[in-house]
Amino acid sequence: MFTPATKIFLFSLCATALGRVAPSNLATVTGVAASAPTTPPSTAVGKTPALGWNSWNAYRCDISESRLMLAANAFVSLGLKDVGYQYVNIDDCWSQKTRDPNTGRILPDFTKFPNGINGAASKVHALGLKIGIYSDAGTLTCAGYPASLGREKLDAQTWSDWGIDYLKYDNCNVPGNWSDASTPQNNDWYNSNSAVRYRLMTDALASVPRTMQYSLCIWGQAHVWDWGGRVGHSWRMSGDSSPTWSYISSIINTNAGHLSSVKFFAHNDMDMMEIGNGNLTIQEQRTHFAAWIFMKSPILLGTDLTKLTTSQLNIIKNKELLAFHQDTTVGDPARPFTAFSGMPSTSPPEYYSGTSSLGSHVFIINTSGSTATKKFTFSNVPGLGTSGNFKLHDMWTGQDVSGTFSASSSFSVSVAAHDTVAYRIIRV
Ligand code: GAL
Repeated sequence: MFTPATKIFLFSLCATALGRVAPSNLATVTGVAASAPTTPPSTAVGKTPALGWNSWNAYRCDISESRLMLAANAFVSLGLKDVGYQYVNIDDCWSQKTRDPNTGRILPDFTKFPNGINGAASKVHALGLKIGIYSDAGTLTCAGYPASLGREKLDAQTWSDWGIDYLKYDNCNVPGNWSDASTPQNNDWYNSNSAVRYRLMTDALASVPRTMQYSLCIWGQAHVWDWGGRVGHSWRMSGDSSPTWSYISSIINTNAGHLSSVKFFAHNDMDMMEIGNGNLTIQEQRTHFAAWIFMKSPILLGTDLTKLTTSQLNIIKNKELLAFHQDTTVGDPARPFTAFSGMPSTSPPEYYSGTSSLGSHVFIINTSGSTATKKFTFSNVPGLGTSGNFKLHDMWTGQDVSGTFSASSSFSVSVAAHDTVAYRIIRV
């Protein structure tokens, strides 16, 4: 076995032998900006936030082709594919612990994936779905499997050969000379060591035949919202999710401060769905889904889909919410707004408005632990103006709310603890 120091040394040697710049050279503080690739992410994929499934929240390291195919088949049989869910993604622990000694390539764990990853990919593709893989911009993945720092092009080539469509790229086991102990010169986080590690993979992905969507799992570090859109299609805004109201409300609050980074091909990732896990109330599950929708985060389901209840399926299959998320003419998320004069401020904000190709929308979260009346004045909704009349359409039920409202009037609704209401506003 190699010691960690020997591993880093060997890995630098290897990288040089493969004809690329050794990371230790790139990482010298002044050398980074000049040497690092500036390749942009592909615009052939990732225009709207990803919709799919990922193995981690459901199974951690206990993954297999059969579990992957359980999810893929459930996409078809439960109608999730029909409403847009597309990516079936493998997380950490899919490979052997050592690379092929001759080729240097990562090898699948054939006990978990008896047909290899390419075999699993063919089965997923045969269902009309796409497949994702996981690696890490360090020396080992978080669970201690081979990672891609210094091997970006070789690994991208391997995934391309296997038919991979999506890469989640994690941030564990980063050598000291690749970390960012302090703010970079001129606050230029795009040229920080962290960003450069991710940029090397953007470049590698661009160099292989297969187009892959690129998801940066960087836990909200290195001011990623400032540069993530120049490097990948989405970027994690936090550490790992949990099936708790405290996680859901805290990531909504964090994300509310960074919505200006979200646009087509560039999405703040609030982490994977917990619907189906833990003890979230049905209201909390609705808010979990609605907030990921209106903030335009990737939505990767993270549970055994075959165990979802009808109420849970109704949440994740809501076509009106999914249409807001996947709108191909409006890329902006909904943003906090002042819903009525004298509105108190809360953490996270409770009132959001946004537009889609169908018009204006209002989303209201009740962040308190008991039922509360929420209201908004129509003329306070950005873009509606101060005249005219409106009807309201409830996006959860698909029904219009009774009555017509003037611009100066207010609409009030009782919202259960931790629930979210969602409306489309129709000018009449
Ligand atoms: C974490 C990551 C998780 C999961 C895990 C695998 O760093 O945030 O989403 O991928 O690693 O080990």
